[in-house]
Amino acid sequence: MKVLVTGGTGYIGSHTCVQMIDAGIEPIIVDNLCNSNQEVLNRIETLTGKMPTFYQGDVRDESLLDAIFAEHKIQSVIHFAGLKAVGESVSKPLEYYDNNVNGTLVLARSMKKAGVKSIVFSSSATVYGDPEIVPITESSPTGATTNPYGRSKYMVEQCLSDFYQAESDWSITLLRYFNPVGAHPSGLMGEDPQGIPNNLMPYVAQVAVGRREHVSVFGDDYPTPDGTGVRDYIHVLDLADGHIAALNSVGEKQGLHIFNLGTGKGSSVLEMIQAFSQACGHELKYQICARRPGDIAECWSSSEKAEKELGWKAIRTLVDMTKDAWSWQSKNPNGYHK
Ligand code: NAD
Ligand code: UD1
Repeated sequence: MKVLVTGGTGYIGSHTCVQMIDAGIEPIIVDNLCNSNQEVLNRIETLTGKMPTFYQGDVRDESLLDAIFAEHKIQSVIHFAGLKAVGESVSKPLEYYDNNVNGTLVLARSMKKAGVKSIVFSSSATVYGDPEIVPITESSPTGATTNPYGRSKYMVEQCLSDFYQAESDWSITLLRYFNPVGAHPSGLMGEDPQGIPNNLMPYVAQVAVGRREHVSVFGDDYPTPDGTGVRDYIHVLDLADGHIAALNSVGEKQGLHIFNLGTGKGSSVLEMIQAFSQACGHELKYQICARRPGDIAECWSSSEKAEKELGWKAIRTLVDMTKDAWSWQSKNPNGYHK
């Protein structure tokens, strides 16, 4: 089975390509490399023995997509390509809506022309906003998003839901990721953020490797057990496996399929710093700072629906997540850059 993977050289896409090849699925990657490095392709080859077919290009380039669909018999598309920095989305909303929303519309139009009727879309727990009740189920309210990035994900969900009403022989799967962390256990692939990391785990990893002085803990006065924010961290390989489970279970089943991909467990900022200290073998410095505007106290998933309907469950532990992230960071202190 050939699957078009947009954004396939990115953090989640690259790990998913490795798991796909191991499962006998052939990824065809299209990526414009705006937030990734071509070196990823060599790492995929080292890990799997196969160099994936790669097109350097933009998902908004409809003629490129048309040509790819004409060249390959593609059964399904996993759509990772997009911009994901919350802060940047506030200062560059047009870029975010163009890339994330328009990019998806161009892709769907090209798929329709080619008769490819199965898409798996990278959505996010951000569509739930600040949840009233945790754990969050797929029927929890959505739409109260707080920034252009979050709204772009919500808009794409709406667009694809409307599209499904018109094209009911399609399989459209919305996967709402919680907080992906960790790396490939080989230490060959991992998260490689450009500039100062916005997210907790890559920041902690850079403190561990000596690239940054200390972790700033954004608030210790939340109504949580230790006062710091609680999130559902999920190993990126579990997330990758979730995509394969989705392709296998619902990828050919007509319908609008919506799943949370999380572990069902929450961990605090201090617990994550502690777990990482154990993985790297030394205490990591941190300072308690003011809350980050827009942050919520706690967010974790109910993973029951995915377990029941996809037969998928996150199996990797917090120790695996921190150990693998440390292995990647310590072997590649500057990420994919030499
Ligand atoms: P990433 O930035 O590492 O990967 C995205 C990839 O898409 C990059 O390789 C980038 O070069 C590419 N890309 C961006 N715009 C493109 C375009 N117009 N045409 C072609 N390629 C383009 O991000 P990631 O963490 O792997 O996230 C993948 C997807 O999952 C994104 O849609 C993101 O919004 C979503 N998501 C990520 C997280 C997270 O915490 N990492 C959480 C929830 C949802
Ligand atoms: C953030 C985004 C969310 C996106 C998700 C992807 C915001 C407001 N939300 O979520 O839209 O889908 O990333 O993974 O940016 N923290 C620190 N110090 C740091 C960094 C973070 O204490 O240097 C804390 C945060 O306050 C939070 C937790 O760590 O409690 C996790 O933060 P982060 O990794 O940025 O993820 P989210 O805020 O959950």
